[in-house]
Amino acid sequence: MAVLNVNIDHVATIRQARLTDEPDPVWAAVQCELAGANGITVHLRQDRRHICDRDVRLLKQTVACKLNLEMCMAESIVKIAEEIKPDQVTLVPEKRAELTTEGGLDCVRYKKRLADVVKRMHKKRILVSTFIAPDNEQIMASAQTGCDAVELHTGMYANAVGKRAIKKRLAMLEDGKELAMENKLMVHAGHGLTYRNIAEVARIKGLCEFNIGHSIVARAMFAGIGPATAEMIKLIDKFSL
Ligand code: PXP
Repeated sequence: MAVLNVNIDHVATIRQARLTDEPDPVWAAVQCELAGANGITVHLRQDRRHICDRDVRLLKQTVACKLNLEMCMAESIVKIAEEIKPDQVTLVPEKRAELTTEGGLDCVRYKKRLADVVKRMHKKRILVSTFIAPDNEQIMASAQTGCDAVELHTGMYANAVGKRAIKKRLAMLEDGKELAMENKLMVHAGHGLTYRNIAEVARIKGLCEFNIGHSIVARAMFAGIGPATAEMIKLIDKFSL
């Protein structure tokens, strides 16, 4: 059965809107965990637009479930991961001007750097996942560099309009998952997943971990982050059986 990591970046986004100390993502993480989340995901961006170093340090001390640190491969960030030692890192591309992570990591182009980062993370016993498009070359490059997992980018599925387009994107995720599993990679998925579109992705057998942020934090505004987390877990459980 698949599990849920809640991405709490946008709790920090609200805090940073006033450069104050609330809402605290550390409090949010506790609520998500109590509601049954398998893990907490945060993205420490180079511009520190939401999550800050202090958050990652405190989360490392307080999160009892999995702490998944999303990060780019910039040296300064890699060094922070080596020092804080989250349970898992998910390697993503990063552009300063983007609203959110736009595409997947180009593991083919950056294969040498990726292999180096994987080695350094493994030395600290940190699992490595790459956030990639469901593309054969990207999957193979992740496998060849020794990654433990891939997170298939579900953004194209989430943005697809019309039954045919949605079916095509689901088929790409299914094929990508197959190839990744054949190459002994764990297969995660995320980006743009919501209460409305999770069912079809959760039905893909073998996807074992979902990273979901914006939709859960948006619902949390009205329902509270505990109930919002529990509701998403209920849907994942129902459709990934
Ligand atoms: N997975 C990765 C690698 C991401 O970069 C993000 C966005 O931070 C997510 C999952 C969560 O996406 P969303 O906020 O659209 O649920």
